[in-house]
This record gives sequence, C-alpha cells and structure tokens, in this order.
Amino acid sequence: MRINYLLAWGGALAAALGLAACNAPATTTAAVEPAIPATNIAAPTELTTNPAQPAAVQSALPKILVHKSPSCGCCSAWVDHLRHTGFEVQVDETDELEPIRKRLGVPYAKGSCHTAEVGGYVVEGHVPAADIKRLLFEGPKAKGLVLPGMPMGSPGMESPDGRVAPYTVELIGMNGTTTAYAQHGQ
Ligand code: CU
Ligand code: CU
Repeated sequence: MRINYLLAWGGALAAALGLAACNAPATTTAAVEPAIPATNIAAPTELTTNPAQPAAVQSALPKILVHKSPSCGCCSAWVDHLRHTGFEVQVDETDELEPIRKRLGVPYAKGSCHTAEVGGYVVEGHVPAADIKRLLFEGPKAKGLVLPGMPMGSPGMESPDGRVAPYTVELIGMNGTTTAYAQHGQ
C-alpha cells in the first residue's frame, strides 16, 4: 500500500520533470530572440500566442473570495496555495458556511471546510489551483467545482511524508449533479 503511494508520487514527479523538459526548447528560443534583427516582426508575435501558456488568461485571473472559519488552519494553507499560484485572494472569515454553500449550489453532502467564489463559479474544498485555472479558461456552463471532504495530499492538506491519496475533483452541473473533472494522486 505504502509502496504504491510512493510509486504514484514518484510518477507525478517524473511527469512534472518531463513537462519542464518539454518547455526547455521554448525557453531556448526566447533566449535567442534578442539576436534576431528588429525588422523581424513575426517571431515576437508567435512567442505571445503559445497556447500552453495563455499570457492573457494568466494576467487576467479574477479575484477569488474565500469563505472560511477563522480557526481553520488547512483553509489558510489553501489560501496560501492560491496566492502562490497567482491568484489575488480576499478572505471572508465566517462560521456560517452552510447558508453560503446553499446559496452557491454546493451539493448537499459534498461539502468541505471552505467555500470560494471566482469568476461566477463556486469552488468548494481543497481544489488545486490548476483545476480552477482550467475551469476559468474553458468556461463551461456549470456551477463550479467541488472536492468533497479533505483528501490527504490535496493543496493545503499536504502530509509530512508527501503522500497523496487518490482524489477526484468534480464539476457541479447547472442541475446540481456532479461529474468527474480531474483525477489526482494516481
Ligand atoms: Cu480543509
Ligand atoms: Cu478549508
């Protein structure tokens, strides 16, 4: 069991490293760029339209409002995760989360420890920032994302030994039903 987790974690690391390697050629191109004569106007345009790094979306991230209990430690850790990944975060400290969940359409029994609002969507629980960015980028007709409970290894729920339990972020449809949106830790 434990070895499986370690293998999964190693795989995720390898994937992350592989991704970094994939980006290397683009970095090289950028470094060479200044040597190209100023009369060449096509190259700089191409650089800004790399679909893997939508610069316009990155700079236009909407502010995220996080409703959390003042005493919730893992909630604060999730807020830190959001800030580290480029979000401007406004925190609303409250112990009355249930009415907020109800108003925003979080399905009953799918709740977690904090509830956020961003770009017209609700985000419930320790959802990775990458999933929120994908949601904002894709803009599906949906209420938002939910990660029920507090899975070990999700952002803000990191364990000392780095283990990540498999978990699934779900998309909340307009009718309140949920479908799998992103798998993590497997
Ligand atoms: Cu939590
Ligand atoms: Cu929380």
